[in-house]
Amino acid sequence: MGSLQVLILVMIFGCFKPIADGLGVNWGTLANHPLPSKTVVQLLKDNGIKKVKLFDADSGSLNALAGSGLEVMVAIPNNMLGMMMDYATAKKWVNRNVTGYNFNGGVNIKYVAVGNEPFLSSYNGTFLNVTLPALQNIQKALNEAGVGSTIKATVPLNADVYAGDLPSEGQFRTDISDLMTQIVTFLNQSGAPFMVNIYPFLSLYDSEGFPFEYAFFDNTGNTVTDNGVVYTNVFDANYDTLVSALKAVNFGSMEIIVGEVGWPTDGNIYAKAANAQRFYAGLMKKLASNTGTPLRPNQYIEMYLFGLIDEDAKSVDPGNFERHWGVLKYDGQPKFNMDLTGQGRNVTLVPAKGVEYQSKTWCLLNPKAQNNMTALANNINYACTYADCTSLGYGSTCNGLDSSGNASYAFNAYFQVQSQIDGSCDFEGLATVTTQDPSTNGCNFTIQIVLDDSFGFRVTVPVHVVLLHVLVSVFLVMIW
Ligand SMILES: *[C@@H]1O[C@H](CO)[C@@H](O)[C@H](O)[C@H]1NC(C)=O
Ligand SMILES: *[C@@H]1O[C@H](CO)[C@@H](O)[C@H](O)[C@H]1NC(C)=O
Ligand SMILES: *[C@@H]1O[C@H](CO)[C@@H](O)[C@H](O)[C@H]1NC(C)=O
Ligand SMILES: *[C@@H]1O[C@H](CO)[C@@H](O)[C@H](O)[C@H]1NC(C)=O
Ligand SMILES: *[C@@H]1O[C@H](CO)[C@@H](O)[C@H](O)[C@H]1NC(C)=O
Ligand SMILES: *[C@@H]1O[C@H](CO)[C@@H](O)[C@H](O)[C@H]1NC(C)=O
Ligand SMILES: *[C@@H]1O[C@H](CO)[C@@H](O)[C@H](O)[C@H]1NC(C)=O
Ligand SMILES: *[C@@H]1O[C@H](CO)[C@@H](O)[C@H](O)[C@H]1NC(C)=O
Repeated sequence: MGSLQVLILVMIFGCFKPIADGLGVNWGTLANHPLPSKTVVQLLKDNGIKKVKLFDADSGSLNALAGSGLEVMVAIPNNMLGMMMDYATAKKWVNRNVTGYNFNGGVNIKYVAVGNEPFLSSYNGTFLNVTLPALQNIQKALNEAGVGSTIKATVPLNADVYAGDLPSEGQFRTDISDLMTQIVTFLNQSGAPFMVNIYPFLSLYDSEGFPFEYAFFDNTGNTVTDNGVVYTNVFDANYDTLVSALKAVNFGSMEIIVGEVGWPTDGNIYAKAANAQRFYAGLMKKLASNTGTPLRPNQYIEMYLFGLIDEDAKSVDPGNFERHWGVLKYDGQPKFNMDLTGQGRNVTLVPAKGVEYQSKTWCLLNPKAQNNMTALANNINYACTYADCTSLGYGSTCNGLDSSGNASYAFNAYFQVQSQIDGSCDFEGLATVTTQDPSTNGCNFTIQIVLDDSFGFRVTVPVHVVLLHVLVSVFLVMIW
C-alpha cells in the first residue's frame, strides 16, 4: 500500500470513529427564539449524537424526534411533581407523554426524569415530600403500561445531595439522608440508575480559593490524595464521593448516570470559551478512553453535556453565566473547536443547517438623542428585563463597552427579541436603527433567528406591553 492509500485509510478511520456510546446532550428550550425542533434533531444526527435529554415532554420536540432512532429522556418539571402524587394523573402523564410515542416510527424513550434537582438547598424543601411518591407513581404507571422493563424513571439530582471532605468520606446530606436512602432503595428495586449533575465550573465559582487547575482534566497543579488514591480533578473526586455515599447505604454498585456536565462561555470571569474548550477536550478524551474514576476504574460513563444550545431566557438567579451553557450559540453555530470522538482533533461541531436570520438591522442609542440619564437608565432597564444583557456584566464578553455602548447593546437585544417589529427600536426617541454591524472584537451584537411558529412556548413580550410601557412613561412624565 502506498502512503497515499494509508493516508486515505487513516482519514476514513479518523472520520468514522464514532463518538463515545455514553455521550448524550441536554436539549433545553428556554430561549426567546429557539431553533426549530427539526433543525435541532438534524443537528444531533449530523454530529453523531445518539442520546438526548429533555426538560419536559414538549410535543414539538418529541414529534421532531419521532423516527430519528435517538434515545430520549423525557422529563416532568418540578412544578408538576405535586400533581404526580395522584396515581391517575401520573398514569395520564405516562400514557400521553411516553406510551403515546411508543409505536413503530415513534420516539425511543429510555428514561423519565422525575423533577430536576428537586432537593437543591435553595428550594427550601419545597419538593421533599412530593418527589419520591411521584417517582413511585411514574414507575408504576410505566410498569402497568407494559414498558417498565425498558423505560426507567429516575430523579436527576444536584451534587449537593451528598458531601465529604474526601471522596472516600461521601455521605448523603444529613437533612435528607433518610429520603435519599428510600429513593436509592426504590431505584435499585426498579432497576433504574442514579442520576447526578456534576459541575466543576460551579465548584470554581462557588468556593473562594478553589484551585483553578483542579477543575480541569489536564490539571497541571495540585492533586488530592485520599487513602493513597490520587485525584487529579474535581469531577472524579465528586463522582467518587457519590460512589462512597451509595456504598454507605449499601448500594455501592448502583449504576450512575451524569445527567448534566459542562462549562459556560460568558457571564463570569471563569466562563470563557477557552476554558470550556479545555474542559470539554479533557472530558471527551476521558469518555472515549473509558478510564472511569479511581473507585470505578475502566468503566464506561454515561453522561449528558449541558447544554447543546444557549438559552437566553433562563433565570439568572444562579448567575449571569446561566444563559451561556451551550456548546453551540443560540443559532446553532459552534463556539469553539471540539472533537466529540475524544481524539483531540482540531475540528468544529457540525453547525445547524438552514438557519434563517432576521434582516441585518441593529438598534442603537441615537447619538443625537437628548442626554437624559434617568430616561436612559429606565429604558435600558426595561430592555434588559425582556432581553438578555448578561454579556455586559463584569468578566463578560461585552464588559468593555462604554455607557452608550451599553445602551446600544441593550436596545439591540430587545429589538432582536421583538423580531425587529415596528416600535421596538424607539425607547422614547432614544434609539435608532442602523444596517452597520456595531459588533466589536469579542462582543457580538446579535441578530436573532426568525421565530419558528411550530413552537408552543413563548416568552416574547407582546406589542401591547411595549405600548403600555410607553403610556406609563408618558403618564409619569405628566404627573411630574
Ligand atoms: C405531557 O407533557 C407536557 C409537556 O411537559 C405537559 O404540558 C402535559 O401536561 C403532559 N400531559 C399530561 C397528560 O400530563
Ligand atoms: C428560600 O428561603 C430564602 C430565605 O428565607 C428565600 O429568600 C427564598 O426566596 C426561598 N426560596 C424559595 C424557592 O422558596
Ligand atoms: C413535608 O411533610 C412533613 C411531615 O409530614 C411536614 O412536617 C412538612 O411540613 C412537609 N413539607 C412541605 C414542604 O410540605
Ligand atoms: C438491588 O436490586 C437487586 C435486583 O433487584 C437485588 O438483587 C438486590 O438485593 C438489591 N440490593 C439491595 C441492597 O436491596
Ligand atoms: C484549530 O483550528 C482553528 C480554525 O478552526 C485555528 O484557528 C486554530 O489555530 C487551530 N488550532 C491549532 C492548535 O491548530
Ligand atoms: C428625563 O426623563 C425622565 C423619565 O423619563 C423625566 O421624568 C424627566 O422629566 C426628564 N428630564 C428632562 C430634563 O427632560
Ligand atoms: C455597562 O453595563 C455593565 C453591566 O450593567 C456595567 O458593569 C458597566 O459598568 C457599564 N459600563 C459603563 C461604562 O457604564
Ligand atoms: C456574531 O454572531 C453571529 C451569529 O452566530 C455570527 O454570524 C457573526 O459572525 C458574529 N459576529 C462577530 C463580529 O463575531
